[in-house]
Amino acid sequence: MQAQRGGDAFAKRERTDAYVVTSAPESWELAFEDIRDADPEARLVKGLSPGVLVVQSELALPELTKHVRMHGTFVRHIFPLIQVLSLHEAQSDVAVLVDRCLSLTAKLDSLKSLSVQTRVLGGRAYRGYDVNIAVSAALAESGFHVDVKHPEQVISIVCTDTEGYIGVSAAKHNLSDWAGGIRRFAREDGQISRAEFKLLEALEVFSLQISAGGMALDFGAAPGGWTRVLRSKGLRVVAVDPAPLDSRLKSDSNIMYVPATAQEYLSKFAQPNSFDLLVNDMRMDPISSANLMCHAAPLLKANGAAVMTLKLKSKSQRKQVRHALEVLVSRYAVLGTRKLFHNRSEVTVALQQG
Ligand SMILES: C[S@@+](CC[C@H](N)C(=O)[O-])C[C@H]1O[C@@H](n2cnc3c(N)ncnc32)[C@H](O)[C@@H]1O
Repeated sequence: MQAQRGGDAFAKRERTDAYVVTSAPESWELAFEDIRDADPEARLVKGLSPGVLVVQSELALPELTKHVRMHGTFVRHIFPLIQVLSLHEAQSDVAVLVDRCLSLTAKLDSLKSLSVQTRVLGGRAYRGYDVNIAVSAALAESGFHVDVKHPEQVISIVCTDTEGYIGVSAAKHNLSDWAGGIRRFAREDGQISRAEFKLLEALEVFSLQISAGGMALDFGAAPGGWTRVLRSKGLRVVAVDPAPLDSRLKSDSNIMYVPATAQEYLSKFAQPNSFDLLVNDMRMDPISSANLMCHAAPLLKANGAAVMTLKLKSKSQRKQVRHALEVLVSRYAVLGTRKLFHNRSEVTVALQQG
């Protein structure tokens, strides 16, 4: 990644018109294009590491986040940059960061809960966790209410070898509740595939509410990770795939396995108004997959939701996403499109029947 230098003046001044923007390492150019869609005047100041950019924009954070949430795909996390300080790759950096954060309390609302989210880029004498603990303890001592799980405001910190980047923002404007949008899930006993994390992350990022007892249709279900997640949320599942499901799912009478392609299922078995949720993780080109979702839309009940992945070729990914969305909007309202932390060469789209 080409790092553009912003110059020392940038580091010394406190700024409110710069942002630290995070994406998947390989998608930073696409993420910057998402930012440029929101603000054509936005400027790339420098790259801190692949996928972590400092971007200058005159747009206020709520506006930038709103635009990126509605129209962007590749930005995972944003925070406004208010301080840059020198670091020395030593344990003493932690105390320096604590002091600097304590000097920013005027930017915090003392009545609102907060958390500290630190990312340390590269290996160092300390971890992000050490900084989080030290800064949180100092702020708690100053009377702030620290709530790591549901903070209303966040102090975000990114440490490079030589500099610390600090920002303060309302949690809802960071695009993700997790530092850098990195959402990790613990492996569970009985987990069938890593793909499970994709669906768990999508349900959270797009705030999709799932009511136990509902019906889900899973296109491209094998080996059954998404089906297992849906069952764990109390849905009954019709799982469609020519490939077999994992044998651990066979005894579950609330899973109906249909050994067929999605196209065969739609032409032979489909009943309108049957499902609360449609998910699709099929290995298929984005336009064909989007067309299939449109054919399947009548199977959803009114206001039913859908989640799909678009498997992207490496070139012109924004164009591939745009074309697939052009197809999908004929039958769905698009709730959001995001390259999630657990997506690889794909993005995830959340839809509502409309
Ligand atoms: C990435 S895997 C799905 C993984 C699954 N979501 C999980 O969590 O275990 C993609 C699946 O799409 C299936 N697939 C590809 N084309 C299909 C089609 N036309 N109809 C149904 N399934 C299809 C493949 O057989 C494969 O099992």
